[in-house]
Amino acid sequence: MDLVVRTFISLTLLLGAVVAQAKGSDSVKTASQDPQQAQAGKHAAALKPSFAHLHTPPKGMPVMPMPKDYKPTEAMFALGQRLFHDGILSKDQKVTCASCHLAANGFAHPDKLPPGVDGKRALRHAPSLFNRGYGTLQRWDGSSASIEAFVLEPIEDPNEMGLKLSDAIARLRADESYQKAFADAFASEPDPQTLRRSLATFVRGIVTGNAPYDRFLLGEVGEMTPQQRHGQWIFESKGACWKCHTPPLFTDEAFHNTGIGVRDGKPEPGRKDATKDDADNGKWKTPTLRSIRLTAPYMHDGSLATLEDVVAFYVRGGNANSHLDRRVQKLDLSKDDQEALIAFLRSL
Ligand code: HEC
Ligand code: HEC
Repeated sequence: MDLVVRTFISLTLLLGAVVAQAKGSDSVKTASQDPQQAQAGKHAAALKPSFAHLHTPPKGMPVMPMPKDYKPTEAMFALGQRLFHDGILSKDQKVTCASCHLAANGFAHPDKLPPGVDGKRALRHAPSLFNRGYGTLQRWDGSSASIEAFVLEPIEDPNEMGLKLSDAIARLRADESYQKAFADAFASEPDPQTLRRSLATFVRGIVTGNAPYDRFLLGEVGEMTPQQRHGQWIFESKGACWKCHTPPLFTDEAFHNTGIGVRDGKPEPGRKDATKDDADNGKWKTPTLRSIRLTAPYMHDGSLATLEDVVAFYVRGGNANSHLDRRVQKLDLSKDDQEALIAFLRSL
């Protein structure tokens, strides 16, 4: 939301509150009385990346699978956290992992396509990094086999960080404090292997859970509003959302064609580019819906601006094309059902 819109909304709210008070009415909800605002505030603390998540997942999250060939440590996490926020890995020293994956936006980016070096834009929307440690294939089309395989790719990507990997390693080796940090974490010099392991360990620590939904399931029945519970029922029944956004991670980590990116009835290849199988035409990885309230805009091309737009997209049955998934069909949802579904998404 840009500043003008935000200011306008705050002013409108303020004005509403003043008018309501002048009338002696108590019907206007302040932020602290609004159950969804209060939920978001309570949840925020649980969203900080932490090494502890690798061993003690937050409420509602399964145990995180570990890489087979090394044991992540706290020193690797700390080093990865520093690298994630450091321009040393980009050509102009300004673009960082964090400048495309912003904590305030759920480690996604508020632009459709996030900005890289030399005024360029990445080719796809920056996805949230929440809970990527639970997934194997990375990228919207799954073309990267693991987090370890993926994390060095943005460095060399000409639209993203635009730096040769060998130059990135040379810069790190020339920096005394990085030499020490790599020695502490790996007892070795900066090299592609230690760089990828430190970044991957930090990404694994970006976890979200312990949401109102999780606490509700664990018996704290006041944590979800009746509207959100109605929305959960829609999600699990006539909405059919759970078939791909499967709890508790709210993704099946598989690939489906919902019609996003279709032009003139033709899908963008998506997963097909990676597998060369025509059955994968127009398929993209199901993203998690965890903390989805933070990560607008949505979809691999950032083409849907709000959760309202997303729900409207599914209600009309996605975008028709030659390979549309059978599970994406027109939905018979009333206005109340749609609002409840959105309220439910905000509880995740
Ligand atoms: C210029 C913006 C930009 C920068 C810089 C950037 N990313 Fe990304 N990131 C993206 C985009 C766009 C994608 C989706 C790419 C795709 O699907 O092809 C992505 C995807 C990812 C994924 C896979 C997520 C998934 O759901 O499959 C991970 C993990 C990730 N980035 C971590 C990092 C790390 C670590 C760095 C720093 C070394 C970094 N990113 C730097 C934009 C960026
Ligand atoms: C057939 C599987 C499938 C079904 C059913 C499905 N989705 Fe999705 N969903 C996906 C895929 C795949 C994407 C990513 C599409 C893309 O980016 O091209 C997605 C994207 C989304 C996003 C955007 C996430 C992000 O981070 O950008 C939201 C929100 C969402 N779906 C909500 C829902 C809701 C609500 C329902 C039920 C009404 C639903 N989905 C039903 C597969 C599915």
